Amino acid sequence: MWAEPLWNAASVLLGYSIFCAVIWRRARRSSAPPFLSDPNGDGVLVSYASQGGTAERIARQSAHRLHGKVPVAVLPMNQVNADTLRQFKQALFVVSTYGEGEPPDNALLFARRYLRRRVQRGWSGIRYGVLALGDRQYAHFCGFGQSVHEGLVRNGARPLFEPVLVDREDPQALDQWHGLLNGLGVGNVNADAEPACAANDESAFSAWRLQSRQRLNAGSSGAPVYLLQLVPADDGDSLPPWDAGDIAQIRVLDQHKKQQVRDYSIASLPSDGALELVVRQHQFDDGRLGLGSGYLTSELPVGGELPVSIRRNTGFHPPPINQPMILIGNGTGIAGLRAHLKAREQESEQSRNWLLFGERNARNDSLFHDELINWQRRGHLQRLDRTFSRDQKELRYVQHALGEAAASLRTWVRQGAHIYVCGSRNGMAEEVDLALRLHLGERCVDKLLAQQRYRRDVY
Ligand SMILES: Cc1cc2nc3c(=O)[nH]c(=O)nc-3n(C[C@H](O)[C@H](O)[C@H](O)COP(=O)(O)OP(=O)(O)OC[C@H]3O[C@@H](n4cnc5c(N)ncnc54)[C@H](O)[C@@H]3O)c2cc1C
Ligand SMILES: Cc1cc2nc3c(=O)[nH]c(=O)nc-3n(C[C@H](O)[C@H](O)[C@H](O)COP(=O)(O)O)c2cc1C
Repeated sequence: MWAEPLWNAASVLLGYSIFCAVIWRRARRSSAPPFLSDPNGDGVLVSYASQGGTAERIARQSAHRLHGKVPVAVLPMNQVNADTLRQFKQALFVVSTYGEGEPPDNALLFARRYLRRRVQRGWSGIRYGVLALGDRQYAHFCGFGQSVHEGLVRNGARPLFEPVLVDREDPQALDQWHGLLNGLGVGNVNADAEPACAANDESAFSAWRLQSRQRLNAGSSGAPVYLLQLVPADDGDSLPPWDAGDIAQIRVLDQHKKQQVRDYSIASLPSDGALELVVRQHQFDDGRLGLGSGYLTSELPVGGELPVSIRRNTGFHPPPINQPMILIGNGTGIAGLRAHLKAREQESEQSRNWLLFGERNARNDSLFHDELINWQRRGHLQRLDRTFSRDQKELRYVQHALGEAAASLRTWVRQGAHIYVCGSRNGMAEEVDLALRLHLGERCVDKLLAQQRYRRDVY
């Protein structure tokens, strides 16, 4: 009685695996760097590992400095393989760290392929430098940058200099890096090609005013979540440009009167007339509130001003409008997803969108309920799966909803869908990743990563 369904399932899976393998092969074949008309191999490869866009920005600034002196190519590390490396005289890696010394998503494939202990390659022709970005408050300071350095040495590559470690975009360390670019033997670099401005530098911030604050989950068993609307303090009418996926950084003084920066996914578009954030109030066991979230949700009065900077987050920018989008998130992760849904609504009436969103209880935690239902009714959301973990006996999360919709997931991916995940890294994003790998297959997910069709803004 089981034989026929099992056989059918196996056939579908086999067919799908073959489909993925074919696409994967094609993708690999076409992953050549943008310029390869450099017959002498004198060029410099600048490769980045970046989740939030900082390493990518610094990589592009570094490339700009070399521009005109030598051929330069800029690539995310996932698009770099042994063949690519062999075509360059020198390679520079600008690398950030996440988790416990782990790579950002756009370097996962490179790390798996080349940085594991077992595999060793004869890369003695490759000379490289590493700029490692990190934050000393984390246990594994610049952990992935160190792994890149050690992995390259293990494979036989030769360092041009010791890795430069950068704590929160420390300008001195960045100056050191720019000095080292001068020593690459390509002549004087274009020092003023682009300012080496750090995202957390003074000039990037300007004063914004809190226009309104509204609780979105009154009566919730979880911590309070607020929708904040901010406008520029000097002229409430003119907002700077930003794209869906970008991040607002706020600056706040800690107990030692030191400036600290906190990131929040932007939930609106400039055409909404305000910068909107969805902020969960973090509360410690002793009742104290988290530094940034406490300031935004309690301390700062409506009408009060605060320094805000908008950080471009190219790694989470919109996919092409004519390709379907699967948006997955939980809690305040709705912020980044909402900005994308708004942007796609603005661009076309025909885009295909599927939102999977998780919270605790439908009664109190249906964030943006009316808006989502309205989008669903009008067909902007072709599919809406909301999962409320505590509304039934067994805990149920977005990854379970994803598993139950596995057949549709495969169809959407086959049709070219881009998968965007926003919200908690631990718990949600990790489990969603496992579910994707289980239901699409490892190769397919790796292919999506390589094609930048699987992107995450997780924290
Ligand atoms: C890209 C990105 C987007 C985000 N988007 C949102 C969003 O849309 N909405 C939202 O509510 N939150 C978002 N966050 C989380 C947000 O930035 C804050 O982390 C959150 O508000 C808690 O900060 P806090 O200052 O209130 O708490 P803190 O005072 O920072 O305390 C929170 C906890 O984090 C620990 N902690 C704080 N800083 C560090 C550190 N550097 N290293 C190790 N542990 C640390 C503390 O010990 C404490 O346990 C986002 C984070 C990132 C990186
Ligand atoms: C969720 C999160 C985890 C992080 N984990 C680490 C870490 O383990 N070690 C470290 O040195 N820096 C860590 N950082 C700091 C980043 O590496 C640093 O901010 C870097 O500049 C980010 O670059 P990107 O914007 O290109 O991703 C972490 C940052 C975030 C937001």
